[in-house]
Amino acid sequence: MLSQQTMNIIKSTAPVLEVHGVTITKTFYKNLFEAHPELLNIFNHTNQSKGRQQTALANTVYAAAVNIENLEAILPVVHQIGQKHRSLGILPEHYPIVGQFLLAAIKEVLGDAATDEILGAWGEAYGVIADAFIQTEEVLYQEAEQKDGGYRGFKPFKVTKKVVENELITSFYLVPADGAALPEYLPGQYISVQVNIPGHPYTHNRQYSLSQAYNGQEYRISVKAEKQATPAGVVSNYLHANLNVGDELMVSVPAGDFVYNTAKGTPVTFLAAGVGATPLVAMYQAAVKENDAKVKFIHSASHIPLHPFERELLGIAFPSKNATYVPVTTAASGHIDQDFLAAQVDLTGEVYLCGPVGFMEAMIQHLTALGMSKENIHFEFFGPAMAL
Ligand code: HEM
Repeated sequence: MLSQQTMNIIKSTAPVLEVHGVTITKTFYKNLFEAHPELLNIFNHTNQSKGRQQTALANTVYAAAVNIENLEAILPVVHQIGQKHRSLGILPEHYPIVGQFLLAAIKEVLGDAATDEILGAWGEAYGVIADAFIQTEEVLYQEAEQKDGGYRGFKPFKVTKKVVENELITSFYLVPADGAALPEYLPGQYISVQVNIPGHPYTHNRQYSLSQAYNGQEYRISVKAEKQATPAGVVSNYLHANLNVGDELMVSVPAGDFVYNTAKGTPVTFLAAGVGATPLVAMYQAAVKENDAKVKFIHSASHIPLHPFERELLGIAFPSKNATYVPVTTAASGHIDQDFLAAQVDLTGEVYLCGPVGFMEAMIQHLTALGMSKENIHFEFFGPAMAL
């Protein structure tokens, strides 16, 4: 438990640190990777180069510090981040290293303003926050391990099928290479994969949503290639070009809090743009199977050939009395707007959203303007959660 004096220091200095937050975390990562280059095997280099991870970590440390007297308030966020940490194999011994370099970065950026007293208080607060993460993650490790076929860390899966969904997206079907049972997951969860690319000095880790509901047989991920950008797409493009049937891929047990709650029985609309459809396809399958209420899948893509899973989604809707699939082609009919949503979405039910940030912001704005409450709108941003 932190002393009142420590808490007072944290609260009075948090705004100062927040102003310098991104500079501090950039300094932190630069020094961390110089001293511990092996950690580059864990961190996503693209997120690093775009500054995304810096923002995510800075936001979280300051939000946690501001809530230091009531850490309960941020436990859902700790749980969500802990899921990602667990899926990546982050361990308790990593936390003191991060803490040491975070404090050193505060000192480097703030100079004399960061007195020993202030640094001591932040060191203590970091310890409390890190403990919350470590405990949460240990529970998640145990849960992953206790599943049928479960395990800690990564293990090889074999590619049994590779299917081109459209000109950008290819699906890979994966089964445990050791023949063990396939660990169960909830619709909407993702796996982390670990890839060694010839000529690259470090391992790459990436998360991909599981694009079909659990079937006990195989995982399916549906990967979008990036046509121009590097380093974005380095792993996705590598998988497209080099991962073939019979090859192995290192995979961790599925994780993630963005899941469809099949027990609720309320009408549900899945609203996807582009490759954001992947977690929602899994949810839609589960919803149609387990929910008697109306289920609708609206999928926006710029051109007709870019609706992946179209046949599959139609195939699910066709024999069902309560399921509908609505493709939207923005090149022809424009972006989804408020009038479209008013006509298509059952506003008394729930909406699950996934797609680019701009799409999701617009959808949330329209749906709330139509009177939907925020707790009935569920979404997941691709990439690190930028804000709490
Ligand atoms: C992801 C916070 C400790 C490695 C994240 C994210 C946040 C975060 C907010 C983004 C989550 C998302 O994408 O949804 C924190 C906080 C920490 C902490 C507050 C300390 C209390 C650590 C440690 C390690 C680590 C000790 C390992 C050395 C990672 C990695 C990712 C991640 C590899 C995935 C994103 C990427 O690769 O860029 N963390 N983290 N974190 N964290 Fe942490």
